Amino acid sequence: MSRSMERLPKLHEAYGNSFKIGAAVNPITMVTQKDLLAHHFNSVTAENEMKFERLHPSEEVYTFEQADEIVSFAKSNGMSVRGHTLVWHNQTPEWVFQDSSGGKADRELLLARMKAHIHEVVGRYRGDIHAWDVVNEAVADGGGELLRSSPWLASIGEDFIAKAFEYAHEADPQALLFYNDYNESVPEKREKIYTLLKSLKEQDVPIHGVGLQAHWNLEFPSLDDIRRAIERYASLGMLLHVTELDVSVFAHEDKRTDLAAPTAEMLERQAERYGQLFRLLKEYSGSIASVTFWGAADDYTWLDHFPVRGRKNWPFVFDENHLPKESYWNLLKEANPERTFQEIRS
Ligand code: GLA
Repeated sequence: MSRSMERLPKLHEAYGNSFKIGAAVNPITMVTQKDLLAHHFNSVTAENEMKFERLHPSEEVYTFEQADEIVSFAKSNGMSVRGHTLVWHNQTPEWVFQDSSGGKADRELLLARMKAHIHEVVGRYRGDIHAWDVVNEAVADGGGELLRSSPWLASIGEDFIAKAFEYAHEADPQALLFYNDYNESVPEKREKIYTLLKSLKEQDVPIHGVGLQAHWNLEFPSLDDIRRAIERYASLGMLLHVTELDVSVFAHEDKRTDLAAPTAEMLERQAERYGQLFRLLKEYSGSIASVTFWGAADDYTWLDHFPVRGRKNWPFVFDENHLPKESYWNLLKEANPERTFQEIRS
């Protein structure tokens, strides 16, 4: 580790009284970002390596090597692991939803497969993974429907969500179980997520928390909407984790592809925004136990080339060389409001 990095206050220590500070990792970034991860973060999530398609490519085959590596990376660096994710409509292989003649698997078959998968995966990491995203993105964004259409819903019915939580709870009664979704702070979707969570609670489904993915940008969602979402979910007695935080420098409608580096205005606004966001999150640290970035530094983000091809993005608080951005200093400032910037930087 470079001398200069060693001297920087660790993010996870700065927020040690508030919540864990996590990063999504993959087999490449565990190498290329090793020092940065070990220094600033005390929780990791597998970006892809614990998804159904990676762990369970065919019915009789489980492939745990890469997921195991992430767990041992975390252990050797004293980090927690969030499990991501058990039941999702994406990145799940076709075989799961088909019967032996290639038709649609029926409720019984799909529930049996869901149970086998969850028991195998959650059981393997019992004691190592303290929190699981059990169901990811089941709620519909727009329209009147509460749940989005998916093969899980089509074959099993609405209780596929409750069943997933029951199986996960059987497999590891100690693990904290989360429902995880994006656009979680958009009022229309927030109310649907709230309705789903409330009904799961009323049915005594073993759910402990809600994951706010937090794929945000410089202006959206508004701080007020984020605050209202936090309060709404917390009012159900839910534990909150911010699970996939990034702050894109581009608005959703902005399709420009001409930038080789972020503009000074973008960086300034991003720093201000990160400061505001962490001030807000810290205010609710009684409910929020973990804040995970969907990456660690600007050299790698899923937002490169998505949703606009050929366009890089710079959504984190560390730059492409793993050096602190203004955003990092603002996070430290929010963690230590009684100290001046000069004291923090010295
Ligand atoms: C969703 C999923 C994540 C990841 C991102 C894009 O938010 O929950 O696992 O796939 O999309 O990287």
